[in-house]
Amino acid sequence: SDLETIIVEREGRVGVITLNRPKALNALNTTLMTEVVSAATELDRDPDIGAIVITGSERAFAAGADIKEMSSKSYSDVIGEQFFAAWDDLSRLRTPIIAAVTGYALGGGCELAMLCDFIIAGENAVFGQPEINLGVIPGIGGSQRLTRAVGKAKAMDMVLTGRQMKVEEAERMGLVSRVVPTEECLATAKEVAATIASKSFIATSLAKDAVNRAFESSLVEGVRAERALFYSTFATDDQTEGMAAFVEKREPKFTHR
Ligand code: HXC
Repeated sequence: SDLETIIVEREGRVGVITLNRPKALNALNTTLMTEVVSAATELDRDPDIGAIVITGSERAFAAGADIKEMSSKSYSDVIGEQFFAAWDDLSRLRTPIIAAVTGYALGGGCELAMLCDFIIAGENAVFGQPEINLGVIPGIGGSQRLTRAVGKAKAMDMVLTGRQMKVEEAERMGLVSRVVPTEECLATAKEVAATIASKSFIATSLAKDAVNRAFESSLVEGVRAERALFYSTFATDDQTEGMAAFVEKREPKFTHR
């Protein structure tokens, strides 16, 4: 393959994207953004893929946007190229995406992890939004997603001081869904992804959509959207099969239709 900054693998119905710029602690440059977004979009369109894992290395999930690439940019450069706006495309995919985070998830690395649907972290994971130390602020949704994930007090503390948050605090705050031994993080994320991928894809993608509404709308709007999505599952073969299998005391055979 001609990929420069990532590795893409398929294991059954799970797609795995590994950030692969070890010498730069997986710093996110424009090439890496383009490669991750296009690989994830391709996996999203593949009917044989039911979940995606994004991971880095043991030392670093990603240590942020590539400071060396960014340092010489001007205001007109970043607004002109809509710098890093393509990362938003990840939030529009239907396929559930898990971030498997070990080591540093700083700045854009923390934001990339939060762009995923949930985070499974190794014991050595460290989160932070250190942009303030560089004279800038988060730019891939960090000020918004961190605040929704951990609340205003913690988000203000993190974003204004640039301090690092260890995994115990991140779990306590609800930023990560599970903490596992560092060396088991990727395997656990793949197992969880395989479990998700074994369900009806229509149902998992609608479920993801429904949970996301909680972040994007009021409670009344969200409940109304959930109700419509719930009713729509009754138009699927998988609803008929899933309920028939329960009644007949057997495993369901989902066809994702
Ligand atoms: C470019 C980076 C980098 C980054 C690390 N490196 N982080 N290069 N951009 N964000 C490079 C280092 O320059 C070095 O390469 C190599 O990776 C190893 O890093 P060290 O600093 O030597 O390792 P260590 O002492 O273990 O410290 C690890 C670290 C530190 C604490 C993670 O590297 C660090 O603070 N990195 C920057 C973190 C940060 O500020 N991230 C936010 C970026 S702003 P060389 O070749 O020099 O040895 C951001 C904005 C997002 O993300 C919004 C955009 C729209």
